[in-house]
Amino acid sequence: MSDPISAAWERLAALEPVTLADLFARDPERTAKLSRRIEASLGELGEVGMLFDWSKTHLSHEALSAFENLAEACDFAAAREALFSGGIVNPTEGRAANHGAMRGSGPEPEVEEAGALLARMGMLVEAIHDGALGEVNHLIHIGIGGSALGPAMAVDALTRDGARVDVHVVSNIDGLALEQAFAACDPAKTLVAVASKTFTTTETMTNAASAMKWLGDNGVSDPYGRVVALTANPDRAVEWGVDETRILPFPESVGGRYSLWSSIGFPVALAVGMEDFRALLAGAKVMDDHFRGSEGRDNAPLLAAFADQYYTRLRGCQTRAVFAYDERLGLLPDYLQQLEMESNGKRVTLEGEPVSGPTAPITWGGVGTDAQHAVFQLLHQGTHLVPVDFIASIAPGDLLDPAHHRALLMNCLAQGAALMAGSEADDPARAYPGDRPSTTILLDDIDAATLGALIAFHEHRTFANAVLMRINPFDQFGVELGKAIAKRIDAGEGDFDPSTTALMEAAGLR
Ligand code: F6P
Repeated sequence: MSDPISAAWERLAALEPVTLADLFARDPERTAKLSRRIEASLGELGEVGMLFDWSKTHLSHEALSAFENLAEACDFAAAREALFSGGIVNPTEGRAANHGAMRGSGPEPEVEEAGALLARMGMLVEAIHDGALGEVNHLIHIGIGGSALGPAMAVDALTRDGARVDVHVVSNIDGLALEQAFAACDPAKTLVAVASKTFTTTETMTNAASAMKWLGDNGVSDPYGRVVALTANPDRAVEWGVDETRILPFPESVGGRYSLWSSIGFPVALAVGMEDFRALLAGAKVMDDHFRGSEGRDNAPLLAAFADQYYTRLRGCQTRAVFAYDERLGLLPDYLQQLEMESNGKRVTLEGEPVSGPTAPITWGGVGTDAQHAVFQLLHQGTHLVPVDFIASIAPGDLLDPAHHRALLMNCLAQGAALMAGSEADDPARAYPGDRPSTTILLDDIDAATLGALIAFHEHRTFANAVLMRINPFDQFGVELGKAIAKRIDAGEGDFDPSTTALMEAAGLR
């Protein structure tokens, strides 16, 4: 007798193969049954409106029932409850994952603490807007990974029609990145945000020191007086030289790639204002409420995870692609890459046993329509099966002739239709096999509230996938070994393999 989880996977593996065309032919209501609309009015904070369509995936009624059975076998409801009640969902580090509390979803004490931290950030943001630190036109935000990708993406998405402060996000240790930011900023009117959960990350601390030097070399008498620290390690920030009044802390239980909602979102708040930042949080809470309050296939993030598991574990897809048909979401694929790959790129279960199948696929993607003219050839006619997410906004981001936006949306929908329908031709080089899956996420608009809901949807989708695979999505030990080896190279320590030794010599590192 196999255990309930293995039995659930066996049931899934035994499903009859089915084509998309058959699924639509079998059930005229398929689109309605596989679509979910999530909407909410948030008063003065705006509204959330988003439509998800999973009907162009191979999820049949039988597959959905079998996945619901798997979710039950994995005790999905208990795992979700643990997430929102501050349980230890990150057992390797003995931590809760309290990013939800930052937007009001979580245990009371954590939600209260988050409210106080948000109020503190709000006071600083508003004081800066009111001129308390003199004229501030630019913010150089220094951070990497989760301390950079969220702010960069959200600032880019929400400031296309102007920002209250011009934000430059710098992450790479390659000095060119920082030089480029310097070139665009007036040192006398620039603030520097040093964003690091640990306040120890080499890239960030090196860039922060160079930014201090740049300010000092360019006539700013007290460079450290121009710094705001965003960190879960305030003592370290004080030691480094930041005054306590300009340290915006966040809790240790908020993971880097889940930290946009905390003070790591400071550049977003500075660029768009506190009201819009609160709208971002409120939009995320709409998705939290949906995720907590819906079961099985009615739950959008869980349904997305069913499709993800279907393609990764049952169809052997090694990648999944995300195409944003909107310039405002141009950085979303990069953001999702870290969220999904750093969270679920794991090889052992919660119990430390080898996993029973592949884990996170490689997330990749780009912007439509550009990507159509570059990589879609492979999606339509290549030998890999790649499930695709299309994300578009009904309202345009531009003020030009509506023909632009109409063409953008038409192209987005045409690609999903073409992938599914395919097309026959006498010449095999001109034939499209079709039966290729896609999901479409159609947003009413890309405003702060809807963006918050969209990001929270992906966080919960990632968590739901982890629960179904029984892995811990909240640690990231895989990033440490390379860091340790770089330190050994720096210290001139240790014997390396012949290839690395030769390359070190060629690069002048030895
Ligand atoms: O090296 C990976 C990582 O730890 C990410 O998980 C994290 O978001 C990033 O580095 C930055 O870390 P920190 O915010 O502590 O500087």
